[in-house]
Amino acid sequence: VIYAALALALSAGFGYGAILVWILAFGQSAGPLWVAMVQAHGHVQLFGWGGLFVVGVSLYFLPRLRGSPLAFAQFTPWVATLLGAGIGLRGIAQPAVALASTPEAGLGLVARFGFGLSGVLEWAGVTLIVGMLVATLREGRSPLRKSSAVWPVLPFLASAYVVFWLASTANAGWALAAAWQGRPYFLQASDDALTHALLAGFLVPMGMAISVRTLPLFLTLAPAPRDQLFPVAGTYLAGLVLRVTGLFTGQSWLTAAGSVLEGAMLLLFIGLLDVLLRRRAPWTTTREILPQAAPSGPGRRPTRGLLPDYGEYGRFEWLIQPAYVWLAVASMVAIINGLWGLLGQAPPLPVTAERHAIAAGFITLLIMGMAVRMLPGFAGRRTIASIHLVEALVWLGNAATLFRVGPLLALPILWAIRMPGAELIASLARAALGLSGVIGWLAVACLAVNLWWTFHK
Ligand code: HEM
Repeated sequence: VIYAALALALSAGFGYGAILVWILAFGQSAGPLWVAMVQAHGHVQLFGWGGLFVVGVSLYFLPRLRGSPLAFAQFTPWVATLLGAGIGLRGIAQPAVALASTPEAGLGLVARFGFGLSGVLEWAGVTLIVGMLVATLREGRSPLRKSSAVWPVLPFLASAYVVFWLASTANAGWALAAAWQGRPYFLQASDDALTHALLAGFLVPMGMAISVRTLPLFLTLAPAPRDQLFPVAGTYLAGLVLRVTGLFTGQSWLTAAGSVLEGAMLLLFIGLLDVLLRRRAPWTTTREILPQAAPSGPGRRPTRGLLPDYGEYGRFEWLIQPAYVWLAVASMVAIINGLWGLLGQAPPLPVTAERHAIAAGFITLLIMGMAVRMLPGFAGRRTIASIHLVEALVWLGNAATLFRVGPLLALPILWAIRMPGAELIASLARAALGLSGVIGWLAVACLAVNLWWTFHK
């Protein structure tokens, strides 16, 4: 599943992204092929890069939290095949429908068939994984209680997988409808609602759930207060429902109200996790021996500063903490745009800046940091193969996000304040934007090589 995520990211995910952003910065973006490529890129990134990574981690993580083996584990290769084939087919077939000169015959017909089939394959893969995870939760050795390890993250996991299944069902229906009509794109309202549901309703809650369980350990933080997580998760979900409904029905006040609620709850969540400011004492202060105070005799080495590891995974925290900085940036953009919307004004900041601050910032940097820190253990290894490649990943991953999102936020502000030298800064910002895709692709390539090497050495 993880290899499928990396392969899709390196092809239609970051690959198309690199071409699109180059065209956006230096060329002309228009026409059905542009729309088909944008939607194919967004879909492959959300379902393939983010979705498959999250599915791969859930298959390992959820059974351990529940204390029981994965139910129907023999179907795991089917999940990878159905989702991998469906998402890959979408990446090829959607632009092919736009390229076909005669959609009614020959290759055009094949492309339309592939476009429709992709949605059905993905739906079957998502239904299978949801079934396996529900069966694993039900078959646990002890009944689900407040004291169960899975309890604090259950609202995030449950709502995320419900949204994933609903979104894949809607996606299958819309892909079949578009293919039937020979249309190489989803209609704007459906596409916006689906994209937001997947990003903010599936990937973000899964990132929150995995963070709540693992970051206190990986970064030596105080555990997030359980009683406050539930209301935050519930209100965030209410914001999400408002925003998706608003996007689908065209009611801009609903979209605006949902944006404000979502953004505010995300900021509260970051505060509860305490990942950026570290205001609460970490769990280690209640232990007799602090990890960093462990005696450094033969076989005992001091750990890295405040962290409980010895540097065997590289500086992965330089991916995870910036991920949360980008989530905070996205939340503030959502609140500002939402407040303007409630006053009946157009959003002052581009929605794609919020979208990519979450997608390329929060989700991608979190996946990269977690992959480096967690996946060696999943494969029974104690270290990542190369900490030098992790170093490269840190630089490339952070640069890609900064170059992708920074110019989108800086340019409107530069023009608004008419700063001297704005023309020159704008040209530099455009060049950075144009290069962000290639840099992002190189970051994923570094991660892929490092993981392959870790699993095979
Ligand atoms: C540095 C890497 C990336 C580059 C260069 C890039 C580039 C682009 C470009 C040029 C567009 C179309 C114009 C726009 O909306 O601004 C776009 C749209 C989009 N991207 Fe990215 N992207 C990147 C990473 C990601 C990631 C990691 C995700 C998701 C996990 C993602 C999800 C999306 C979505 C959902 C859309 C909108 C698709 C639609 O309208 O249907 N992108 N991206």
